[in-house]
Amino acid sequence: MKHLFENNRRWAEKTVADDPEFFKKLSDQQSPEYLWIGCSDSRVPANQITGLLPGEVFVHRNVANLVIHTDLNCLSVIQYAVDVLQVKHIIVCGHYGCGGVETAISERPAGLIDNWLLHIKDLYHRNSSRFSDCADQKTRIDRLCELNVIEQVNNVCHTSTVQDAWGRGQSLQVHGWIYGINNGLLKDLEVTFEAPDQVPDVYR
Ligand code: CO
Repeated sequence: MKHLFENNRRWAEKTVADDPEFFKKLSDQQSPEYLWIGCSDSRVPANQITGLLPGEVFVHRNVANLVIHTDLNCLSVIQYAVDVLQVKHIIVCGHYGCGGVETAISERPAGLIDNWLLHIKDLYHRNSSRFSDCADQKTRIDRLCELNVIEQVNNVCHTSTVQDAWGRGQSLQVHGWIYGINNGLLKDLEVTFEAPDQVPDVYR
């Protein structure tokens, strides 16, 4: 593990050389404008692919970028980001070829994680008609990756934290993006929400 500490020392030295006040400023406060909710996949590092520095994005990652109504971990991240840090944007970012999505619709058992991935299986089952024209499994997985992002954007918008923020007039947009592991590019799925009237009555 030594090389990780060597990398770290070099990075810290270079960062200070570029901006002597960098760490001092960050230790006084963080004021990120963005909350990123992404997949744990090692190929999708939020800061690197968006060119953001430490201090600029608050990050929550889990397998298959899920926002589950009762997941206190994710809900606490959203609440802290919105109420305390006052982020302006929440980005749910999935990625094509997601291993979590693939596992969810494969027939191979993967252990405990199968329970977490049931949320994706439910989504697939509820929307089975949308997959009838998929020529192959890869197309099916990529379409489900997109649908999963849209579902999680909706889930973010239904949280009491986001509803309360909009209710008091706080400016907050929720976006759905997807990342291409094969080309390094982000795509906006154009499902941005910024007001409660975009959400069905029962969730308001
Ligand atoms: Co993934």
